[in-house]
Amino acid sequence: MAFQLKYTQPFPPTPSESAATTSLISSLKLLSHPEGGYFVQTDKSYNHIIPNPFLTSSPRDPFAQDTSTNTKITAVAGDTRAVGEKDETRAASTTIFYLLSSMSPKGHFHRNKARTMHLHHRGRARYVILHADEWDGTPGTCRIEDWVVGENVEGGERLQWMVEGGKYKASYLLPGDAEEKESGEGVAGCLISEVVVPGFEFTDHDFLTWDRLVLLVGEKSAEEMKWLVHK
Ligand code: GUN
Repeated sequence: MAFQLKYTQPFPPTPSESAATTSLISSLKLLSHPEGGYFVQTDKSYNHIIPNPFLTSSPRDPFAQDTSTNTKITAVAGDTRAVGEKDETRAASTTIFYLLSSMSPKGHFHRNKARTMHLHHRGRARYVILHADEWDGTPGTCRIEDWVVGENVEGGERLQWMVEGGKYKASYLLPGDAEEKESGEGVAGCLISEVVVPGFEFTDHDFLTWDRLVLLVGEKSAEEMKWLVHK
């Protein structure tokens, strides 16, 4: 049956990963990401450092309007960078692998000050974007957009997708795609790369709260997307 309900949790996480997914996680040395899913940083431009464009009260800071209602990320296993530093510089870019799997099939709503280019490798997922950076503050009117990422470009699926700084993003696997697949059919889940420009730092990242979701999209849409809010 076709997948109709866009913002309803399509299935519960499985209690364990398939053998193929476990093998992929260990081959790529992926770690649990606090947004949901797994990741590993594969590149940081240590030899190309630029001034931090997001220092306080910069007009280019997409969080300048509304930091008070948001929760900050606190730590990620295996990541040794300082948290909460007021740093003057940024790496020009960072790159990660990011995997959604049957056991961890959704990435909760969060945003970054930096822009992120996403590149598809395997599987399919739906992305939901709240265009909070272009919202005028009128309750319930924030523009919502969603699309499917995958190989079927003829059917409208995307292989590349840019998410500009200041927008909230969530992602989740589609029904059927999270089930354990026969060997040879590939890994269950969705594997992508993300290139963050300027490079990712915890201080540039935050999660969407329930109250802010209601303010942005209104109570009805917020109820539909509640399961994508980080607890
Ligand atoms: N999300 C996108 N890029 C990164 C990164 O480099 N580190 C972490 N922890 N999360 C990210």
